[in-house]
Amino acid sequence: MTDPQASPAALGPGRLLLGVTGGIAAYKACELVSLAMKVGWQVEVIMTANATRFVGPLTFAGLTGRPVHLGTFDDAMAHIQLAKWADVALIAPLSANVLGKLACGLADDLLTTTILALPRGKRCVLAPAMNTEMWRSPVVQRNIRWIDELGGYDWVQPTEKRLACGDFGVGALAEPTDILTAVYACVNAHPSLPR
Ligand SMILES: Cc1cc2nc3c(=O)[nH]c(=O)nc-3n(C[C@H](O)[C@H](O)[C@H](O)COP(=O)(O)O)c2cc1C
Repeated sequence: MTDPQASPAALGPGRLLLGVTGGIAAYKACELVSLAMKVGWQVEVIMTANATRFVGPLTFAGLTGRPVHLGTFDDAMAHIQLAKWADVALIAPLSANVLGKLACGLADDLLTTTILALPRGKRCVLAPAMNTEMWRSPVVQRNIRWIDELGGYDWVQPTEKRLACGDFGVGALAEPTDILTAVYACVNAHPSLPR
C-alpha cells in the first residue's frame, strides 16, 4: 500500500466517505475501513439497506467510532453534509445495481443521493464486485461506459479468482490494500480537490 509519508509530494489521508452495497464482498469493506483508520483516514460509512443483510452497521460503527448512515430520511441534511464533508468518496463493494443507478443518475437511497450531491470536482472511486456473468453482461458493461462518459469517477477493477458462488472468473472485489492505494492515487492525481 502507498505510504503517504513516503513521498513529500503525496497528500496525507483525509476524509473518506465509504459506500457499502449489498454484495457478498461487503465483509471485505470492514478490513478496508480498519486499514484506512490505521493510516489516519477519517471514515464515514453509508450502507444500502441490502448491504445490512450482509454485514451489520454496528461493525462499521465500531471500526470508525461514528454512527453509520442508512436512510435518506433519517437526517434531513445528511446527503448534503456528507457530500460536502468528504475529500473523496469510495464505493466498495459496488453492486451491479448501484452501478446502474449511478450510470442513470438515479437517487433513491442515501448512498446514490449523496454521490449525486458531491460538489463538482470531487472524485468517487468505484470498486465493483459481482458474479462473472453479471460483470460481463452487456448492460453492466454499457453502464460502465456511461459512467466513464460522465467523468469524476475512478475504477478499481475486480480481480479474477474463484468467486463465492463457485464460478471462476472476473468479479472479485480487489484487495483492500489495492483499493486504498487507488484512493491515495486518486487524491494525489487531483491535488486541487477541495480539502
Ligand atoms: C448471497 C448474495 C450475494 C450477492 N452478491 C452480489 C455481488 O457480489 N454483487 C452484486 O452486484 N450483487 C450481488 N447480489 C445481489 C444484490 O444483493 C442485489 O442486486 C441487491 O438488490 C443490491 O442492492 P444494493 O445495490 O441496493 O445494495 C447478491 C445477492 C445475494 C443473495
